[in-house]
Amino acid sequence: MDKFRIKGGKALRGTVAISGAKNSALPVMAAALLTAEKVTLHNIPKVRDLITMSKLLAFMDAQVSITEMPASDYVIETPKLNHAEAPYELVKTMRASVLTLGPLMARVGVARVSLPGGCAIGARPVDLHLKALEQMGAEIGTSHGYIEAQAPMNGKKRLKGAHIVFERITVTGTENILMAAVLADGETVLENAAREPEVTDLIVMLRKMGAQICGDGTSTLRIRGVGELHGTEHTVIPDRIEAGTFLVAGAITGGDLTITDCAPEHLGAVIAKLEQAGVRVDIADKTTVRVRGAKKLVGADVTTEEYPGFATDMQAQYMALATQAEGTSVISERIFENRFLHASEMMRMGANISIEGHTATVRGPAALSGSVVQASDLRASAGLVLAGLVANGETLIERVYHIDRGYEGIVEKLQGVGADIERVHGAGS
Ligand code: UD1
Repeated sequence: MDKFRIKGGKALRGTVAISGAKNSALPVMAAALLTAEKVTLHNIPKVRDLITMSKLLAFMDAQVSITEMPASDYVIETPKLNHAEAPYELVKTMRASVLTLGPLMARVGVARVSLPGGCAIGARPVDLHLKALEQMGAEIGTSHGYIEAQAPMNGKKRLKGAHIVFERITVTGTENILMAAVLADGETVLENAAREPEVTDLIVMLRKMGAQICGDGTSTLRIRGVGELHGTEHTVIPDRIEAGTFLVAGAITGGDLTITDCAPEHLGAVIAKLEQAGVRVDIADKTTVRVRGAKKLVGADVTTEEYPGFATDMQAQYMALATQAEGTSVISERIFENRFLHASEMMRMGANISIEGHTATVRGPAALSGSVVQASDLRASAGLVLAGLVANGETLIERVYHIDRGYEGIVEKLQGVGADIERVHGAGS
């Protein structure tokens, strides 16, 4: 298993370019299943989850052409969809495989998708996806660990439009049902829908394919089903979590980073919080933001929320920053039940953190010392990298396969702005 070795203490300076958003690329790749025609996608980040998604689409008999491996441009064509199934072997490595459920139901009216099961950050059920599909007329059962779904046998095997009110906001749930509804009979209304920029990116692409959707960026989406969708070309939006992670990297090391190819308009909550903590952030233009570390960081409380609130996917990185801030920062995790695993690793590095339920109280500044630590999930790994960048001496992060799921070339990008970090290759995975 690969590890990262980091020697802390270097202020990061220079320019770093942000890749495409993993969480946008996943649904738009799944959406390619909705048409028999060619879909060309650009700015797909070179990360493991997208390779997993391309394997999944290929399993269903989609032709996925890429010019290099890993690639940032994908051409996907599914003239015939023969296996409406997402097998356990792929789903267990990537929960977002469940995003094929909606497109499969819309295109062929039947789907067999492995149940994702729990993961390190919580139980993460998909009950709301299933309930919504049932409202659209699907018959759903589970057997042998698989979701087995079938559209109504009304001759056409088509789902029917429905009025769906999500009990709680779900990002992939909203995306799944959007993709199911674009080819359903009649109108679907989604209330309490997720407003994440990645949902809007999917809507933009679906509309280019001929879908009729309105309400983007609001919590009520209206979809009028159409007979069929056609091919398209689409460029995914920049990754706001990667951009946020580099903002914290600049801030925590007291550096000066210019972050390009990003969308500052999606970074509002993170930028506001960093400014509250004493960090200087300047938006240079529509795709560039500059961060300069403060002489003194000050503690600021954070509560994770759905977009446009502070993203749960930035919580671990913010916690790393809070360990270096003077005073107390209270971090409340409202989205996932078990998302503080990185805290105990940071405590092993010398951080002063106490956890009670969904709240972590961080008292700083604490002098962190390099240690051997374990990554537990994708964003937790990023938090540990940031802690390693300011720790005294050497930090060794184990299980970095988590970070490879979602951060393109993080070692190279950090080296490019002066970090002392290297990947140590190990056997096995
Ligand atoms: C997506 C993101 C992930 C991010 C999360 C929250 C992708 C591929 N992943 O995950 O990076 O951390 O949004 O912003 O886009 N829930 C249920 N029942 C359901 C669905 C969700 O109870 O059927 C709960 C979840 O357990 C969680 C909360 O709702 O507590 C929000 O989850 P959700 O928005 O669905 O997260 P994901 O879409 O899985």
